[in-house]
Amino acid sequence: MDFIYSIAECIAKASELDINDIKEGIEIPAKAEMGDYAFPCFRLAKVMRKAPPLIAKEIAEKIEKPDFVNKIEVVNAYINFYVDKSVFVQSVLNNIVEKGQDFIRSDIGKGKTIVIDYSSPNIAKPFHVGHLRSTVIGNSLYKIYEALGYNVVGINHLGDWGTQFGKLIVAYKMWGNKEAVEKDDIKELSRIYVKFHEEAEKDLSLNDEARSWLVKMQEGDEEALSLWKWFCDISMKEFNRIYDRLNIKFDSYAGESFYNDKMAAIVEEIKEKNLLTESRGAQIVDLEKYNMPPCLILRSDGGTLYPTRDISAAVYRMNTYNFDKCIYVTALDQNLHFAQWFKVIELMGYDWADKLIHVPFGLVSLGDGKLSTRKGHVVLMEDILNLSVEKTGKIIEEKNPDLENKNKIAEDVGIGAIIFDDLYNSRIKNVVFDLERMLNFDGETGPYAQYTHARACSILKKAGVNSYSDLGSIDARLISDDASVNVFKVLSEFKDKIAEAAEKNEPYIVTRHIIEICKAFNKFYNENNIMNSEGNIKNARLAVVIAVRDNIKAGLELIGLKAPEAM
Ligand code: ARG
Repeated sequence: MDFIYSIAECIAKASELDINDIKEGIEIPAKAEMGDYAFPCFRLAKVMRKAPPLIAKEIAEKIEKPDFVNKIEVVNAYINFYVDKSVFVQSVLNNIVEKGQDFIRSDIGKGKTIVIDYSSPNIAKPFHVGHLRSTVIGNSLYKIYEALGYNVVGINHLGDWGTQFGKLIVAYKMWGNKEAVEKDDIKELSRIYVKFHEEAEKDLSLNDEARSWLVKMQEGDEEALSLWKWFCDISMKEFNRIYDRLNIKFDSYAGESFYNDKMAAIVEEIKEKNLLTESRGAQIVDLEKYNMPPCLILRSDGGTLYPTRDISAAVYRMNTYNFDKCIYVTALDQNLHFAQWFKVIELMGYDWADKLIHVPFGLVSLGDGKLSTRKGHVVLMEDILNLSVEKTGKIIEEKNPDLENKNKIAEDVGIGAIIFDDLYNSRIKNVVFDLERMLNFDGETGPYAQYTHARACSILKKAGVNSYSDLGSIDARLISDDASVNVFKVLSEFKDKIAEAAEKNEPYIVTRHIIEICKAFNKFYNENNIMNSEGNIKNARLAVVIAVRDNIKAGLELIGLKAPEAM
């Protein structure tokens, strides 16, 4: 039952207002004393030429109270509706029982395609904590859009082309060897890459040499390309190991090199559209009119650049996927880059330029400033994951030493803690890595949410119940205490929260709602004795537990966390 719609309907009958306008105006009061739904009349004052409280009073007098509403009250300019609790609980519960795992899914996005470009690490550089953010935010957006019925395409736009390869080839030839790379793979590549930057500060000719190797790659030189391919394979091995642990998959790994044979036509097109000008030997699109520095298209030696590849990729993606939105998840410091080339797409006359969306996020720090690969101050993603898993293992050892599958659970909880923390705030906020906070089982954390889920599982296990069908008929009228009703209230809001998260590209809206569900459940659990209750009351309470278990699990999946059944 759609309560908001039904309330809007009875207000519409009592007034001359449009039902859709009413629906949009209906609010859910923050405090339960103010009713379950409220309709504010302020906006009507202008048209009706009366004071808002008077309007509220007049409309309320004419409303025919529907059966599911217990009480209608006018407070100032608000018409407050108090829904009959058992009707409300029964309605939400029926819906949950009927839909099961699909309770949070909808078809808002049916027939529409969303492309998400995320993670996108650079080959031959380590996967550092900065990339973690793009990976987990992108993955969560993927799941959120999917739950809304969109067709989603996840793309890992690997940084597998560009000057870094020229540098790496030079570095490898000067300071590297096969055995060392085979032994230490990306760590060794990263070591010689860092060394290149140190040496190039003293000897500028190294940069020229690097550039000439890139030109060789572009010309198809065999030696250059086989080294490039080797570096790519080594990096992908490491990346895939991390993706496996984070439980993340992509639909496409078309990285920057994928556009090598597509860029000439794009450059030609930009030229034909009279957008290309020369500046100090390079080819650029002048963006002065738009208060931005020029967008670089071709280097003076003819080499392509990061924006050239992004413009080509966007055109390719439009032609291939016909997207409704193409989302780019990167750090905030790429804002200008995206603003520039989005503008170029617009200037090229593509009316879909406004479907390109940059979704930026803040920095990650260890409390000691920005993490970088250039200066050798590298914090490897894998080391961080290992540290968190290790600490979690110790906590489990203390709290629950007899737990089965301890290692697997430490992995799910330790990694989940990091992901959860990353997605707990608006993405633009900086993240400070603090394992102490992330692993606090009593805080608003991943372990807390997973533990709440595990607690629900254990209650059900003890009761010998797994699904609603094990309970026979469920009499929701027996569930009327505030704590229980609140569980259903929070569950009933989940779907809207997911839609809001997609609208704003903000997974934290889902993350925080999971915490709301957990808190509501823990309160319910403390106030209602489940195991010692009898017959139908026990059944009804167990139904609450099943509903919570399923919804926390579904929620955790949306943000990329596993939900272990015991902890
Ligand atoms: N490889 C880039 C980096 O690590 C991110 C790429 C983001 N995606 C894109 N289409 N530009 O900074």
